[in-house]
Amino acid sequence: MKRDFVEIEWPNGEHSFVAPGSNWLGSALEVGVEIPTGCLGGSCGACEIEVNGEVLRACIDNVPSLDNSKLLKVDFVTDPYWDQ
Ligand code: FES
Repeated sequence: MKRDFVEIEWPNGEHSFVAPGSNWLGSALEVGVEIPTGCLGGSCGACEIEVNGEVLRACIDNVPSLDNSKLLKVDFVTDPYWDQ
């Protein structure tokens, strides 16, 4: 059964309930999480987040619907070469 809202755990530890199809950037801002952005068109990768281990681009992807009680856990993608 599809649920009307998806529970999301954000990198700052906040939880929120978001309607499937919502925009990731706006949903994150509502809980005080600012996802970095660049092109806002899906090509630069600045907005990449990890959702339950899967990398997606927050500016072009939307919150998926879930058909079970699973939680979506969001982390920032860390690039191992970025800090060198
Ligand atoms: S901001 Fe460039 S891919 Fe999302």
